[in-house]
Amino acid sequence: MGSSGLLGSAVCREVLARGHKLLSYSNSNRALPDPNGAYETTSLPLGQFDAVIRELFDQWPDALVNCAAISSPDLVDKDPQRASLINVDSARRLAEVSSHLGARHIHISTDMVFDGTSSPYRSTDTTNPLSEYGRQKLEAEKQVLQVTDKDLVVLRITLLNGNSPRGDRSPHERILSALANGQTPCLFTDEYRQTSSAENVAQLIVELIERPNLNGLFHWAGSEVVSRYELGRKILQRFGFKEDRIEPSTLLKSIDRVGSRPARLTFELAPLESKVKTRPATLEQQLEEMHLPASLYYWFRQHVDDPSCYHPRF
Ligand SMILES: NC(=O)c1ccc[n+]([C@@H]2O[C@H](COP(=O)([O-])OP(=O)(O)OC[C@H]3O[C@@H](n4cnc5c(N)ncnc54)[C@H](OP(=O)(O)O)[C@@H]3O)[C@@H](O)[C@H]2O)c1
Repeated sequence: MGSSGLLGSAVCREVLARGHKLLSYSNSNRALPDPNGAYETTSLPLGQFDAVIRELFDQWPDALVNCAAISSPDLVDKDPQRASLINVDSARRLAEVSSHLGARHIHISTDMVFDGTSSPYRSTDTTNPLSEYGRQKLEAEKQVLQVTDKDLVVLRITLLNGNSPRGDRSPHERILSALANGQTPCLFTDEYRQTSSAENVAQLIVELIERPNLNGLFHWAGSEVVSRYELGRKILQRFGFKEDRIEPSTLLKSIDRVGSRPARLTFELAPLESKVKTRPATLEQQLEEMHLPASLYYWFRQHVDDPSCYHPRF
């Protein structure tokens, strides 16, 4: 579920790369740029859950990975009730269907269930979400974990780098799109995240599908902590732009957003890290995996400051 998203698309690629059969679903059936033509996504809106149940009972999968969500805190704030149907109700119902089918279930959650005052967080630490998005994700965790303790993983992950099918989801895609629109992105020097990459998390998810002895609530992240501003600087370097294309700011100065943004979200990866083969991605690896969204190619060729840093490949 969520195969057109940043994480879901990486999971689809990894499932195929490891030789498993793939069924992939998302909300809309808008055509997605799929450079490799590797998989097709079927439209299966979670709002029509009878159709979801019919499809899943027809297909009877061995595992179900739920990457579907209203994942933008701003969108959740715009219509919390609609978001809750996807983020909470559908999440629980998908876990129930998996349990009925005897399918292994992986549900994805977020570090935004914490308030950012006591990092690094263990999976057993007290939660205190600051945003409606974080509250919904926490409620979903609780309901999903109540369904069964067999063949079920809730995986909390951190801010994701990576390449989304529409080229508009991850930090580098947003920064480059803002530059292409003539904006100067303003990034916080005091907002810290232990970023990971969609590719790395997808590897872990497929490993978790293959390891039925690992069940329950786990944390996963990259190996380094970085401020949003520092991440932005490294992204500019990666693509050959001067550092003054972004502007440093602080959470304290940004009065309108400060209430809902945890300042420091980092995870302890024990006990999962010692039990899996997948290693947390370094920042260097995450940067190397970043590609220029195809839609920005012509703008990039005309505006990049140092073309020797990055050679677009699609
Ligand atoms: N990205 C991050 O930095 C991050 C960090 C921590 C945790 N997470 C969690 O990781 C998971 C994946 O996030 P993401 O960034 O990959 O999300 P995303 O890029 O926004 O993708 C969301 C996916 O959910 C699907 N979806 C939304 N509404 C739906 C509906 N009504 N019916 C069926 N499918 C629906 C979307 O389909 P359409 O494209 O067709 O609308 C899309 O495939 C989420 O649980 C999120 O909370 C993400």
